[in-house]
Amino acid sequence: MTIIKTVFVTGGAGYIGSHCVLSLLDAGYDVVAIDNFANSVGQKQAASLDRVQKITGKEITFYKCDLLDIQQLDEIFTKHKFDCVIHFAAMKSVGESMKQPLLYYKNNIIGAMNLLEVMASHKCYRLVFSSSCTVYGNPTFLPISEDHPIGNVTNVYGRTKYFIEDILKDVVNSDQKWNIISLRYFNPVGAHSSGLIGEDPTTNFSNLMPYIAQVALGKKASLSIYGGDYATPDGTGIRDYIHVMDLAEGHVAALKKLQSNHLHLQVYNLGSGQGTSVLELLQTFEKVTGVKIPYTIEARREGDIVSMYANCDLAKNDLGWRANYTLEDMCKDFWKWHTMNPNGYKTNDPANTNGT
Ligand code: WQD
Repeated sequence: MTIIKTVFVTGGAGYIGSHCVLSLLDAGYDVVAIDNFANSVGQKQAASLDRVQKITGKEITFYKCDLLDIQQLDEIFTKHKFDCVIHFAAMKSVGESMKQPLLYYKNNIIGAMNLLEVMASHKCYRLVFSSSCTVYGNPTFLPISEDHPIGNVTNVYGRTKYFIEDILKDVVNSDQKWNIISLRYFNPVGAHSSGLIGEDPTTNFSNLMPYIAQVALGKKASLSIYGGDYATPDGTGIRDYIHVMDLAEGHVAALKKLQSNHLHLQVYNLGSGQGTSVLELLQTFEKVTGVKIPYTIEARREGDIVSMYANCDLAKNDLGWRANYTLEDMCKDFWKWHTMNPNGYKTNDPANTNGT
């Protein structure tokens, strides 16, 4: 089993990608990253990765590249010898995916297929795929384990993740050289403790935490809580929030597993294993930051599930990984990033000519 030294990261400039690149560098890997900035509206360059280099003191090789440009992708693989790939690059807005299904199928699925094709042509068969708990659809049991049925997904974004997981199954069945881990993320929140990287609030989002930040920063008068009449202890939706640094460490654990095992295809849940309601998260945020978050209870959001949280025993037993950060850590680190960077990576500092 060849040693994994150089890792190719797609979507490396993104929220989860940049945190993962930081953990990879800290773990001693060399990183080549690409991004097309589809999720960083108006971003001119990998500002997040510039900061990752500052934090770690280590170099990253970066290319602006879209996975739909298979020729450029092939050139990058020709230029470098990759021992493993981590594939984050995808469009990820559930709401947008419903309005533009073909854009999402083209970008997420064709992009993944191009990546797999170029990997095979360069004899690179180790892959960590960024999947999502969304593939489980509406849970029939909780906590949800990897053997829960998948595919009953109503939103296009989640279906792209489900279809790609199915494509991975067929690819592995066609050629035993493939060695793949698919990581199903629950709800990533938080930021690196430095406050220098985080989820860019200037991109289009629909998730809870960015909205809480908008209210806390005075950019939104109050938080709309979608549904207060669910069959949960306080009536609001329950999710499994996981610190983005725990998620990043989960990828390092996956690389180590691939280095020493030929798995063909194995799926792991990456969550905290705890279910937290919207009101519980809001109250934790208020306690940690001292910032009051006014809210109103609105109608349920179409397509929302009532409750979802993970059984992470498989990742614990197989990868030796478990989430360590608490909900308080998530809120504290998340708030530090937002107060230090209210406009994300686009700062108004005139000295900051490159937007970092
Ligand atoms: C969480 C809770 C809402 C906004 C996301 C991603 C999905 C996947 C899983 C990665 C729900 C409530 C939200 C608001 C609210 N991640 N809410 N007011 O729907 O679980 O899915 O995580 O692949 O891609 O979309 O996350 O943050 O949108 O919602 O009350 O303004 O917060 O109803 O109960 P969700 P979310």
